[in-house]
This record gives sequence, C-alpha cells and structure tokens, in this order.
Amino acid sequence: MSSSAGGLVVFLLSVQVIQSQDGWGVTYRQTEVCAAKGERVMMGCYYTHPPVITLYDIKDTFWFTKEKDGEPVDLRTDSEYSDRVEYTCHGAIFGVSCTVLITNLRESDSAEYKFRTNKPGEKYTGSPGVTLSVTGLQVQVSRSNSTWLELTCHSSCDLSHHPEYVWFKNEEIIQTGSSLLVSSGSTDRYSCYLKGSLEQGSPAVYGPQRPSVSVSPSAEMMEGGSVNLTCSTDANPAANYTWYKENGTSDPHLLSEGPQLVFISIQSSDSGRYSCAAENQLGRKRSDFISIDVKLEEKKAPQGQ
Ligand SMILES: *[C@@H]1O[C@H](CO)[C@@H](O)[C@H](O)[C@H]1NC(C)=O
Ligand SMILES: *[C@@H]1O[C@H](CO)[C@@H](O)[C@H](O)[C@H]1NC(C)=O
Ligand SMILES: *[C@@H]1O[C@H](CO)[C@@H](O)[C@H](O)[C@H]1NC(C)=O
Ligand SMILES: *[C@@H]1O[C@H](CO)[C@@H](O)[C@H](O)[C@H]1NC(C)=O
Repeated sequence: MSSSAGGLVVFLLSVQVIQSQDGWGVTYRQTEVCAAKGERVMMGCYYTHPPVITLYDIKDTFWFTKEKDGEPVDLRTDSEYSDRVEYTCHGAIFGVSCTVLITNLRESDSAEYKFRTNKPGEKYTGSPGVTLSVTGLQVQVSRSNSTWLELTCHSSCDLSHHPEYVWFKNEEIIQTGSSLLVSSGSTDRYSCYLKGSLEQGSPAVYGPQRPSVSVSPSAEMMEGGSVNLTCSTDANPAANYTWYKENGTSDPHLLSEGPQLVFISIQSSDSGRYSCAAENQLGRKRSDFISIDVKLEEKKAPQGQ
C-alpha cells in the first residue's frame, strides 16, 4: 500500500481507540474524507473486542452505508458497490485494523460509511461513521492580462491530499500542473483530469464559436408585425449576448442585452443591419450582419392616396 499510488487517497493516522465498557469499540482514522470522481479512496478504522474473543473472522465484519429492513447492507452485497470494494483486516497493537477501498468513485458514493462487527450476539456498529464527499472537478477561468487567461482546476470540497492535474486541449494531453495559461478568444476545449485517473475529468471550458442569428418569422416583415431575432452559439460557461445595429457609416451601436431581440411592433425605421456578440470568460465572437427590411403594409398604400 503506497500513498503515492496514482489517484489513491490513503489516510493512516495513529489514533487512540475509544473503547466502550463491554470491550467493543470502533475508531475511524478520519471522519471526513473528500475525494474526486474517478479516484480510489481508502477509509480505515481500528476496532477492539472483548478480551474473551481471541480469534476474529474478517467475514464477520463489514462496511455499510445503507440499511434494508433495519439491517445494514454489506457493501460487497450491494450491486452499486460490489465490484468496486475491497476489505482488509489485520491485527494491530490496539485491536484490529480494518480498511475499505472503494475504487472508481462516483458522486453517488457521497455518504456516511460505518463499520460493523456482525457475529451473532456480537453485533456492533461504529457510529458516527466516516463522511465521504465525492466531488467533480471544475475549471475556473481568471484573466491574467489582455491576451492570456489562467485556467485552474478545482473541486468543490478540499481534497485532503494535493492531487496532480493533467490538462487536455481538445482530446490531447498538453500539460500537467494545477493551472494552465491559454490565449484569450480560443475556441479550443480545455479540461482537467486527476493524474492517474483519466476516466472522469472536468467538463470542458471553451470560448464561443461565431454565433448565428435566426429571424422569426422568416417571411417578409410588414410594419406593425412582431419579429424576433435570436442569437445562439455553443460555449462553456454559457455565453451572454449583446445586440448591435449598424448605423450609417458610424460603428455599430449597442442595442440591448440578452439572446433575443424582440420587436413587438416593428417599424420601417428598424430596417438595417444587425449583429450579435456572444461572450464568456474565454472570449467573444460577433455574428455576421443580417439585413432586416421592413415593408409598409400594402393595404395602407391605396388608403393614403
Ligand atoms: C501576460 O501574461 C503572461 C502570463 O502571465 C505573460 O507571460 C505575458 O508576458 C503577459 N503579457 C503582457 C503583455 O503583459
Ligand atoms: C418572440 O418571442 C416571444 C418570447 O420570447 C414569443 O412569445 C413570441 O411568440 C415570439 N414571436 C415570434 C414572431 O416568434
Ligand atoms: C444612429 O445613432 C445615433 C446615435 O448613436 C442615434 O441617435 C440614431 O437613432 C441612430 N440611427 C438609427 C437609424 O439607428
Ligand atoms: C458577459 O460576460 C463577460 C465575461 O464573463 C463579462 O465580462 C461581461 O460583463 C458580460 N456582459 C454582460 C452584458 O453581461
């Protein structure tokens, strides 16, 4: 057993065992454990038994998190865990030292785990147990300067060890380390993984692609009609949107914010060229201009004569 094994979290603390009056006692090595999705975690305890018992049988001890009909369910018999758990027990100075190893952690493994001795007439549960939090990784983006962004890998609880991260750009490993510098405006997809556990990484972050604009209704626009322009693109974190209208020869000016530009009653003065911009922390892209041509309602023309 090595604490440097890739992705394996091991807690080995020497602690004094608190013994109950009848001789049974369970002391956990750690009561709060945080690990990342995909990692392996080992939780351990020491247990003491009444002195009259000199032999112990590891088949009569187990770890559980759920109960069924009031009885604790051995992780080895729970289909959610059965192929991902391993138990060990061996004699130690203070009593018996037992561990449970859970591999390929899932977020649904977040729970309180308890150790149980289960010989008939000698059932004893160490309570409270060990609270395991399994967390996903996330990439946070911060601006370094106008051309560079710093990406850092985080988990939502403090991993009790200092994991090493591996960075992916699109589908390729590019770097190890806790942070990565990338150029602003990139639409490449960046994600981080724990070194030694490349199955579950963070969701990828990426800047917006050039957004597209859709017009509804797409048919001819009559004055007084309702028209929506919708801007869309793919980005993570989700992009925000701003709308621009080209105004003669001057620079396009900002009209509004939000993915939709809504005209409840469009006017011929609304004719012109529009574009939208999509932006998130990684970059900003503007759509092509689209032309809106609002026609006067045909019926009105004869009336005006
Ligand atoms: C921007 O930041 C990067 C990384 O911190 C640095 O290498 C680069 O020289 C900086 N550029 C400017 C113009 O400050
Ligand atoms: C425009 O969008 C609003 C709400 O987003 C919707 O109620 C309305 O029906 C849309 N109008 C058209 C012409 O698509
Ligand atoms: C052009 O821009 C000016 C000032 O930004 C504004 O007052 C004017 O209404 C705009 N014209 C059109 C047609 O949008
Ligand atoms: C859009 O997102 C960028 C990057 O997060 C931010 O700097 C900007 O203020 C946001 N703009 C609006 C209109 O919310």
